[in-house]
Amino acid sequence: MSEPRFEIVAGAKGKSAKPDVGTITRGVARSPWTGETIDGDYIKAEAQAGRMGQMLYAVAFKQKRDLYFRPPTEEDVSAIKQARADLAHNRRSWDATGLIPNEPRQPGRADWAAEIYGLKTWADSFAPRQLFTFCTALGVLRQIEEDSCSSLDEDRAQAIVTYLSLAFDKALDYNSTQVVWHASRQVIAHTFQRHDFSVKWTFAEFDAARSLFPWVIDQVIDAYKGLADLVSPAQTTLMYARHEKLVDRLRIFHGLASSLVEIPDRSISNISVDPPYYDNVQYAELSDFFYVWLKRGARNVFPSLFREELTNKDDEAIANFARFKDMGRSRKELAERDYEFKMAAAFCEMYRVLRTDGSLTVMFTHKRVEAWDTLASALIGAGFAIKASWPVHTESETSLHQAKKNAASSTILLVCRKRQLPVISGQSSVGSGQLITDHSSLTTAVWWDDLQPRVRETARQKAAEFAAMGISGVDLYISVFGPTLSIISEHWPVLTSEVDPKTGQPKPLRPETALDLAREEVVRLRKQGLLLGRDVQFDPITDWYVMAWDAFGAEQFPYDEARKLAIALGLDVEKDLMKTNRLVTKKGQYVVMQTPVQRRRKGVVDDEVATFEHLIDAVHTAMMVYEEDGAGACDVFLKKSGLKTDGAFKACLQALLNAIPRSRIKGKFARPEAEVLENLRLAFFDDLQAPVEEEPELAVAAQLGLGEGFEEEGEEGEEDE
Ligand SMILES: C[S@@+](CC[C@H](N)C(=O)[O-])C[C@H]1O[C@@H](n2cnc3c(N)ncnc32)[C@H](O)[C@@H]1O
Repeated sequence: MSEPRFEIVAGAKGKSAKPDVGTITRGVARSPWTGETIDGDYIKAEAQAGRMGQMLYAVAFKQKRDLYFRPPTEEDVSAIKQARADLAHNRRSWDATGLIPNEPRQPGRADWAAEIYGLKTWADSFAPRQLFTFCTALGVLRQIEEDSCSSLDEDRAQAIVTYLSLAFDKALDYNSTQVVWHASRQVIAHTFQRHDFSVKWTFAEFDAARSLFPWVIDQVIDAYKGLADLVSPAQTTLMYARHEKLVDRLRIFHGLASSLVEIPDRSISNISVDPPYYDNVQYAELSDFFYVWLKRGARNVFPSLFREELTNKDDEAIANFARFKDMGRSRKELAERDYEFKMAAAFCEMYRVLRTDGSLTVMFTHKRVEAWDTLASALIGAGFAIKASWPVHTESETSLHQAKKNAASSTILLVCRKRQLPVISGQSSVGSGQLITDHSSLTTAVWWDDLQPRVRETARQKAAEFAAMGISGVDLYISVFGPTLSIISEHWPVLTSEVDPKTGQPKPLRPETALDLAREEVVRLRKQGLLLGRDVQFDPITDWYVMAWDAFGAEQFPYDEARKLAIALGLDVEKDLMKTNRLVTKKGQYVVMQTPVQRRRKGVVDDEVATFEHLIDAVHTAMMVYEEDGAGACDVFLKKSGLKTDGAFKACLQALLNAIPRSRIKGKFARPEAEVLENLRLAFFDDLQAPVEEEPELAVAAQLGLGEGFEEEGEEGEEDE
């Protein structure tokens, strides 16, 4: 059988070898010999038949501080063969002593690739040499446990096993077939770059015979020191006494948030909770990767944590659509209801243990408004009033995962207090979202129609207040979520004029409706600023475009900011802004605004159409015609389409004149959009006002496409090749 041979090429030869063109894309491969396409189904069938393997193609090594690559030597290849043979030789006895994680991988949202590529057990997440390493290391860990238990006191022996198990976990994280090489940073990136187990066609690994374990142990020691410093005795004796008390009072429980049985009623002053964010992460499914090993290494120390074969997925509070997969088309709805119910049950339990004057702080982030709606419903249903919300930048913002995957990089903190609850039939009305579904029996209900003016006014007032405090852009939109939820949660139950056909009773308000209203007010406030005090209604897509220029002042800005603005306008970045309307494209962790010419599309940005779906399409068409065919052609287009006398069209031009930076470089506008808009104004709409132009130094930032305060991060590495 012919085998490929590898060579390291650098410099001009390296460039001409086109390193970016790989041999597989989206599961379909290309033969490196003949260039022929290799069908994805064939690859999957081969993988399922156990005929997909791995091949070492390069070794990275450090000399002094520099990193070099070399092709594998014969010695490397024979060591790999030897490890495979040793695994085969030991497999039966290791199976018998339970060292190999033969627990099945269950197809789910995170582990969707396993079944397709024939990965049946958790042991299959590792190449033979990796599995050989870990089974050997696990045997050593068990020996250390035995020795420690016989020679040390129990606490010390347990501590050794615990911390070595954590180090073992870290080694797994950096030595599976899920691990990728982060090309631009020249580092090995860990297993959980994505919140799933997609197949990695090229994986990286540590040299596990020598470097891996010393490194992971150092890492755990370092983390331990950091944590120990946080609770270590402070400098003075007085502080020491306080600390001792604090440590004495520290108790750690493991269990369901809906069942805090060890905690008495009204005994806690503050609860801070970082709950699962709707369907963002399938924690239990992902945790199985570690669970199967931890239960082998640390089960004697923590027997109660490792009783099950795999992690508990049924009680997990996430919107897990896979759990409802055989239940027809309503599985999304069922999964959402299940999430809301579990969150409500957890919040009810928090209500029980929280003191009357206590506070609950909930961290939350999600790109979809439904997620906010579900969370708010659960909180309100449990008896909480939401008092405020603050966006905070989370530490993980710079992690590879955040940078690469456009996961949220900021979190909203919701500050909640216990509400005064009405009593139903002699009992408290707290319980599993009861207030949401059983509201009609209450006499204290408030009508949404009556509350709307207050929500509008508060949103406006708070937005003005926050803006004066320096909160700007998207954070301004999100900052009014708290005050809005506060109004509806304090007046709960809030009823709408819509009647539920099943009960014949008025339907309760979904928090989403109130959030929509609040952000409409912020948009109106900001827009009024851009429209010089006038009030004109645009569509949400046009609003997003205008507001994005207003908030970021740049053609390129973080995806996460784009999606927060989209949330504020009830839009979805991928669906509404990228796919359907092509207002932006994605570039790494950024989005890039598309110019009118780039947006040209039949029926959308098109001078042949009679009516435009969105106002921005009309404006972009006029700009495109002006740019490409000049003032005469644009005049014809504006007259033909009736836009020359269209009030909303002119208002949109005015808003864009104000929103798009008008900085100049060598006398010319840095932004081509600003140039065309100004030309349109001078040629046809000289009643529109030209805004004051920016200071020259701002021009550079606008030209670079970076808004104020945004730092450019490293490029992304390629995941698959
Ligand atoms: C957003 S994460 C919290 C991460 C944590 N702040 C950290 O830094 O590690 C949500 C956590 O809630 C846990 N979880 C899910 N359902 C739960 C339930 N019913 N009871 C308790 N915890 C649950 C998940 O396993 C996950 O660890």
